[in-house]
Amino acid sequence: MRTVNSFVFVLAILLISCSSQKKDIVKGIKLQNDWKFKTGDNPSYSKPVFDDSGWKAVKVGQTWDKQGYEKLDGFAWYRVKFELPASLKKSSFIKDSLRIYLGKIDDFDEVFLNGKPLGYNGITLQPEASFPDSFNVEPSPWYKERVYRIAVDDKRLHWDRENVLAVRVWDRGGLGGMYAGMPEITMVDVGDYLKSEHKKRAFVFENGKARKTFVIENTSTYVNMEGDFIISATDDFSGKEIYHNVIKVKMPAGNEQQISVEIPEQKESVTLKYVYKQKGSDSKMTFTDILPYILTPPVSDKPRINGAKVFGERPGKPLLFRIPVTGKRPFKIDVENLPVGLTFNKKTGIISGKVAEKGEYPVKIIVENSIGKVSGMLKIIIGDNIALTPPMGWNSWNCWGLSVDQEKVFASAKVFVEKGLADHGWNFINIDDGWEIKGDSPEPKRNNDGTIRTNEKFPDMKALGDSIHSLGLKFGIYSSPGPLTCGGYTASYQHELLDAQSFAKWGVDYLKYDWCSYGQIAKNNSLPELKKPYLVMRNALDKVDRDIVYSLCQYGMGKVWEWGAGVGGNLWRTTGDITDTWESMKSIGFGQTENASFAGPGHWNDPDMLVVGWVGWGPNLHSTRLTPNEQYTHISLWSLLSAPLLIGCDLERLDDFTLNLLTNDEVIAIDQDVLGKQATPVLIDGDVQVWVKELADGNKAVGIFNLGEEVIDYTLTFDKSGLPGKAKLRDVWRQKELGTFESSFDMKIPAHGVVLVRVAGL
Ligand code: GAL
Repeated sequence: MRTVNSFVFVLAILLISCSSQKKDIVKGIKLQNDWKFKTGDNPSYSKPVFDDSGWKAVKVGQTWDKQGYEKLDGFAWYRVKFELPASLKKSSFIKDSLRIYLGKIDDFDEVFLNGKPLGYNGITLQPEASFPDSFNVEPSPWYKERVYRIAVDDKRLHWDRENVLAVRVWDRGGLGGMYAGMPEITMVDVGDYLKSEHKKRAFVFENGKARKTFVIENTSTYVNMEGDFIISATDDFSGKEIYHNVIKVKMPAGNEQQISVEIPEQKESVTLKYVYKQKGSDSKMTFTDILPYILTPPVSDKPRINGAKVFGERPGKPLLFRIPVTGKRPFKIDVENLPVGLTFNKKTGIISGKVAEKGEYPVKIIVENSIGKVSGMLKIIIGDNIALTPPMGWNSWNCWGLSVDQEKVFASAKVFVEKGLADHGWNFINIDDGWEIKGDSPEPKRNNDGTIRTNEKFPDMKALGDSIHSLGLKFGIYSSPGPLTCGGYTASYQHELLDAQSFAKWGVDYLKYDWCSYGQIAKNNSLPELKKPYLVMRNALDKVDRDIVYSLCQYGMGKVWEWGAGVGGNLWRTTGDITDTWESMKSIGFGQTENASFAGPGHWNDPDMLVVGWVGWGPNLHSTRLTPNEQYTHISLWSLLSAPLLIGCDLERLDDFTLNLLTNDEVIAIDQDVLGKQATPVLIDGDVQVWVKELADGNKAVGIFNLGEEVIDYTLTFDKSGLPGKAKLRDVWRQKELGTFESSFDMKIPAHGVVLVRVAGL
């Protein structure tokens, strides 16, 4: 070692190699300690010669907010110095490149090695390359592990000398810094060349087994792989390994191999791991996977009437209602006491027509199949209100983004019917942005009469609307009050009435009306200015001969929940856009408290669309990054909140888990409860939050959520949660009676998971 004072050495993992070698061999360098930190931004901080002796010490692996820089947003720099012994190269299995691991960084980073750009946001730069616009990236890479790989002969590295690593971090809000994972430097090993596609395949459930097949690939051009691929599953509640299997891997350079996993189906939270171990090397590559567990019992053969028990339409406006029924087919469905003006098609199960007279019309529905007969009531209310329960359906945005087209939309409608979602009450098929002519296109955006034109992906909107209606489903569309939509397509500014008329002509039943680009028109952020565009479109919608559910999308500005109903909105977004991460879903979902009292029949808070299944906001989709526990939390919480439920995934790739998640009638019934109350948190107890929603039958729906990182044993104390002293509890996801309990109920809740119960006081 050289003069310790001239630079700070980092802790090296010194491993004495096998007996044949005499010298100490360095296998890796842990960059755990000796980091220096400075808030602010200055290009000279990247220079190796910069004197950082006056900088503060900082811990990596935890946010700077935890270290006295609470609420620091913006720039800060981290620096560390280390020696790079050549023995690191010698000891490695493959000798060509170095791997610099920096853990996770919130939000963005630019890394300099010895003053030269090394990489940004986890992307390594070639020698001599400079940074692009590193911080203008969506979504923020805050959750991404930063790994930089560099060839051993790259000039940016100083072997057997001091090296200086400088990390420029930009935090755009919330927590910040190098917050997770311990930085270290190792040689690139076999595992680094192993690519696994397991995240791209979903488990299929069959005969009590969860199965999936995926490909692993050796991406190296010269390293051969031979070793073990170890699959293990651990029950999160008991901590016991419940499955272990070893698959032999033999993959010459550039080859791939198929891996099949078959695990007995689980009924609760499990951690699934794949570890690849190369023969002759002690290197390991670990991947985690998700073993979904299905809680919803299979649909019974007995006939069952699902969905909302109340339906509203205005007098004289076309009504369309597909009765959602499950059970063994064929059915015989009958309805009694339909108001004048409506007819029922026994073959399709669709009620349609127009009712002229205002009033409440209790309609009896009778369903019979070879197993049995049931009846139920549907109250049709002809009056001033529509959307009497939160809208349920599909919207193109979270999957297809601007790449949506007519075929994708109609395919979704078909899946609603073919996979039975419509039998559980799902009915809107909504196109989001991307159907109009692009703002910068040379094509005319409107016809000579001012009516809006559609782009080539939507050649015939009326035909699309008709085919959606022919399935008994409803048709939704999107526009914006400014000149352009958020995606830069033509919007409704100064053509509101014409657009409302076009929508009506096409058979539109739902309009999502955004804000983007209206910001340039609005004079300021005052309430009258925020309300104005929504009133203009409301006026236009009132003039057409259809009922159109009106969804405001301005992200909650000016506390829209206080006035959304007043401007004629049926629902309004309360937040910015959701994305498929725990952080996003958690902060949106559990943040819906202030607005609770403003939700009710005909007017709902909208915490944005669902992020389960295959999502992607563009042509390339991926399976949601939410774990199964997080997905149960998502659907439970949205149902408790009486939130509009809009599926945002590719329905043609609906896997078994997602389908079951979305078709639990008892969970949906909580969302669709006719009282229309929004749950509130009655108890926050460390990581546990208890949310309660009052239901029309006097029962309470209770979600006990564990926001923590570990399984928790929890006792729900009835009086602390405002529940009756003695009560019957029903597990809603499992659709199972739990029994009668006095004063408390004990449970285990998985990390980020939920126990959802229906509580009936005795
Ligand atoms: C956003 C909106 C998204 C989506 C998008 C379309 O403003 O929040 O849900 O509609 O515009 O460009």
